[in-house]
Order: sequence, then structure tokens, then C-alpha cells
Amino acid sequence: MSIQSPGLFIAFEGGDGAGKSTQAARLSDALESRGLSVLRTREPGGTPIGEKLRSLVLDHGHGTIDARTEALMFAAARAAHAAQVIRPALAEGTVVITDRYVDSSVAYQGAGRGLGAEGVLSLNEWATEGLRPDLTVLLDVDPSDGRQRRTAGDAAEDRLESEPDDFHSAIRHAFLDLAAAAPSSYLVLTANADIDSLAAQILERVQSLLGDRVPGVRP
Ligand code: TYD
Repeated sequence: MSIQSPGLFIAFEGGDGAGKSTQAARLSDALESRGLSVLRTREPGGTPIGEKLRSLVLDHGHGTIDARTEALMFAAARAAHAAQVIRPALAEGTVVITDRYVDSSVAYQGAGRGLGAEGVLSLNEWATEGLRPDLTVLLDVDPSDGRQRRTAGDAAEDRLESEPDDFHSAIRHAFLDLAAAAPSSYLVLTANADIDSLAAQILERVQSLLGDRVPGVRP
């Protein structure tokens, strides 16, 4: 079990259009149906102030937002999320599943906006008081596949999504670098694999972290 709390903290990460929300929902349903207490949440967001910051930073129409301002807004939303939502839930033994966390800032603001991984990591260490996931599931998506998937049905792209493919390519590599640097804390999967097979692999890994808490988990 987690060394930091009685709960288990799982983050889903990956480029836009990777299918994180689908897999987070599948995992959450599978664990809940086995009687575990699960909290599904997302970033930016998860608290009232976080949701306001989400629309400020993602919606078009707020003029230019400089890279450091952008990084601080994501970190501010995350500080509230970690202190008010994630830590209390973990303390109660809940499995917390978040759609994005610190790695998204390292990838988008660190690599995409060019702020560098080191500064963005230390800002976020401070913001979260060092709270890290027990497992990060990285759904690795090719930027052009991701764009196709997220714009299917004419969905509008937010401020970050509408950046060009080379921005999304830098992000992809930053995620992969983070995973390569700490392989035991990551599960890296190819996003365009079959949905059921991805769900099964994720559940198997989570089950191994949960140990005896969930008997015979099957997706
Ligand atoms: P997401 O919620 O995954 O988008 P959607 O609602 O369309 O599924 O993420 C919103 C965007 O915010 C996404 O383009 C990534 C970006 N983002 C950052 O740039 N930095 C961050 O720290 C986070 C959490 C998200």
C-alpha cells in the first residue's frame, strides 16, 4: 500500500485525445463495483476555485497569458486540489483517480512552453507539499492521432489543445522522459490500443498495488 497514506493515489496522464477520461472511468467503475471507495477527479479543477482557474486558463478570450502565469495558474488549482480534496480522501483510505496531475505541468508548461522541467517540478513540489501519485498511467498518443480523436464530431479545441503538432510532440516526449526516469511508478500504454485491453492492463497493475484489498478483480 501507499507509503504516504492509507489510500491509493493514481494519476492518468497523456496528450490531448489519449482517452484518459474513458480509462479513468473504467478503472473507477471496476474498483467501485468491488466495494472500494473511489474518488474520480480532474485537473485543472476538482475544487470551486480550481474550476474557476480552469476556465480562466483554458478558455480563449483572456488575451495573452504568459508562460509563467499559465504555470502558476495550473499550480494554484493543483495546490487547492491536493490540500482540499486529494489528501483528505487518501487519509480516509479512498482510491483517488485524477485525470492529470503534476506531469501535465512538466510536459505542457515545462516542455511545451519552454519553462524547463526543473523549475516547473519545484513549483509543483511546493504547491502540493510533495504529494506524488503511487502510480501514473501514461497513455501515449501520437499528436496527429490525438488531434483526430479530440476533434471528431467537430468538438472545439481549448487554448492548449489548439497549439500546433510540434508543441504536442514536445509534450509527448516530456511525458515519456518522466516515465523513463521512474519506471516503477509508471504504466506506459499505447493510447490507440483496444479499449478493453487497456482497461484490463490498468486494472491488473492497480490490483497488484492494492494487494489483498480487492479479491479477484476482473475488468
Ligand atoms: P483536459 O482536462 O485533459 O482537457 P479536456 O477537458 O479537453 O479533456 O486538460 C485541459 C488542458 O489543460 C489540456 O490541454 C492540458 C492542459 N494542462 C496543462 O497545460 N497543464 C496542466 O498542469 C494541466 C493539468 C493541464
